[in-house]
Amino acid sequence: MINFPKDFLWGAAASAPQTEGHSLLNGKSATTWDKWFEMNPEKFNQDQGPKDTSNTYEMYHEDVENMTKIGMNSYRTSISWARLLPDGKTLNPEAVAFYRDYFQDMLDHNIEPIINLFHFDMPWWLMEKGGWEARESVEDFAFYAKTAFEQFGDLVHKWTTFNEPMVHVECGYLLGFHYPAIVDMKKAVQVGYHTLMSHVCAVREFRKSQIDGEIGIILNVLPAYSRSQSAADLKAKKDSDLLNTQSFLDPAVLGKVPVELVELLRENDLLPTVEKGDQQLMADNTVDFIGINYYQPRRVQAPTNPHFPAKMPEDLYEPYDWPDKKINPYRGWEIYPKALYDIAIMMRDQYKNIPWYVSENGMGVADEARFKNADGMIEDDYRIDFMKEHLAMLHKGMEAGSNCFGYHMWTFVDCWSWLNGYRNRYGFYSVDLDNNFKRTVKKSGLWFKEMTANNGF
Ligand code: NOJ
Repeated sequence: MINFPKDFLWGAAASAPQTEGHSLLNGKSATTWDKWFEMNPEKFNQDQGPKDTSNTYEMYHEDVENMTKIGMNSYRTSISWARLLPDGKTLNPEAVAFYRDYFQDMLDHNIEPIINLFHFDMPWWLMEKGGWEARESVEDFAFYAKTAFEQFGDLVHKWTTFNEPMVHVECGYLLGFHYPAIVDMKKAVQVGYHTLMSHVCAVREFRKSQIDGEIGIILNVLPAYSRSQSAADLKAKKDSDLLNTQSFLDPAVLGKVPVELVELLRENDLLPTVEKGDQQLMADNTVDFIGINYYQPRRVQAPTNPHFPAKMPEDLYEPYDWPDKKINPYRGWEIYPKALYDIAIMMRDQYKNIPWYVSENGMGVADEARFKNADGMIEDDYRIDFMKEHLAMLHKGMEAGSNCFGYHMWTFVDCWSWLNGYRNRYGFYSVDLDNNFKRTVKKSGLWFKEMTANNGF
């Protein structure tokens, strides 16, 4: 039997833009997702856009009930910036009422809300000023954070600033998957830097607000494993970790950008423009905890056609197709639970053993309806196995002393996933889009209930 500590947080994660619906209603202004969908609906799987999300705006009471039914004691979602401050300055009273009631309902059901401020949903008014490319975004975000703390600080005690900041940097400025779909590494670094400073200034606002609570950031960690121990492959691994993991983790926890990352950027002519005083702000505003989203590792090798100075990440490291990997047959991602142990040890040894939690782990499955039984319940035994394997590795890391306080699955109710729409399902509950968004628990939800009741399995 694997036992977790008393008070361990068990739950699931989601985000405002992927669940709320009412995307242009009740005072909310447009985000880049609303606009991009309007401009290019064909980019989105089955023409499903932000309006087609799982309707939490109307169904949150039922959702909170459903959380308790599967043994969750915590839930992470986000606030929509464009809903709370439709023009960046003016408070939307309907948004305040909605979120206050939602968070209060969670508290009334003994669900701890963990509330995140930004989950890839850039307000359009800010995008028109250049989005994260513009330094102004830093103070705009700090104002939004301050407003959120003022409005909800009495209800929410665990806050996070960003979800997976590297994803909006990479997807928006290197890979073309998110608006503005620019491909330019120098811009990507600048966008990353402004995001980092926005995080730092939001933490500054949190400390000033003197809220009774804690603040952190949620980072996607794809630990890099090199193809071989050759110096070139090891350098590829190192560069990948510097750019993808340490770029946010070091400043957030240790208060500074790693010197080696600065060197790497300098030699490749990629250094961002910074302002005087930034370093001190970073040093003064570190976090209380970290959320780690872990899905799969990154297998890397030295680039086959290196280019100097690097114009793209592929000039520094390249994906390597590790032959022995175990693959999720329904989605294609690698399944490698041991990385969760490695992450636990990394947090213990390189990040002062700061409190952290698994803020996302999960298994996407395409055409999941094929696993429905005669009663309409999805029998997702593969997801139960996935959780068991990952929890066992996490537990091993905790036994070795890593300071982990919780485990959240992505996600609670099947949700809309950006350009993929509803292609891959991840939830503890399925959603029927043709039947008033009806939620039905999956077998994994029932397993989770039993597991959390025993605090282990
Ligand atoms: C990470 C992100 O936070 C979320 O938005 C996304 O849908 C899931 N992973 C699944 O890919």
